[in-house]
Amino acid sequence: MIYPIVAYGNSILRTKAKKIEKGEIDVKQLADDLFATMEHTGGIGLAAPQINKPVRAFVIDANVLSEKYPEGKGVKMAVLNPVMLEEYGEEWSYNEGCLSFPGLHEDVVRKSKIRVRYEDTDFNTHENEFTGIVARIIQHEYDHLEGKVFTDKLSSIRRVIIRGRLDDIIKGKVKTDYKTIFAKRR
Ligand code: NI
Repeated sequence: MIYPIVAYGNSILRTKAKKIEKGEIDVKQLADDLFATMEHTGGIGLAAPQINKPVRAFVIDANVLSEKYPEGKGVKMAVLNPVMLEEYGEEWSYNEGCLSFPGLHEDVVRKSKIRVRYEDTDFNTHENEFTGIVARIIQHEYDHLEGKVFTDKLSSIRRVIIRGRLDDIIKGKVKTDYKTIFAKRR
């Protein structure tokens, strides 16, 4: 099922998502819904809180970017209960967007490598290292599960500059080609 996207300004995006215990919810269905919604919206990553489910799950698909970033080739996966073990390597800047921030793209600096422990939808545990664009997408989605968003990482000056655009998103004064839940649309 394709869900509407929760936009910036809704409190669920500021809430730390809950660990998923085995048998508690249908995680295969959740992963299917996240993938379907991500594909519908043209995203490369989508976290459960963005479809109004406050649980620790996200999906990513780095294939679309794999021409420029070969490390993304074949990387399409559902991640449950991730734990960020380490972020290391060089810092690099990338122009990020987010389905919860329609129309906004900002340069964000992050470390280039991560080590992360997570479960798949069969609740098998994995511990892997990821680099480049794959690390970047996981860092962005992981932040969503911590109640953080990419604009938190901008300089205070930059945040002042975009404040009006953030207000427009909160009020729903932006166009999207997917269904969106705005915090204060009249
Ligand atoms: Ni996002």
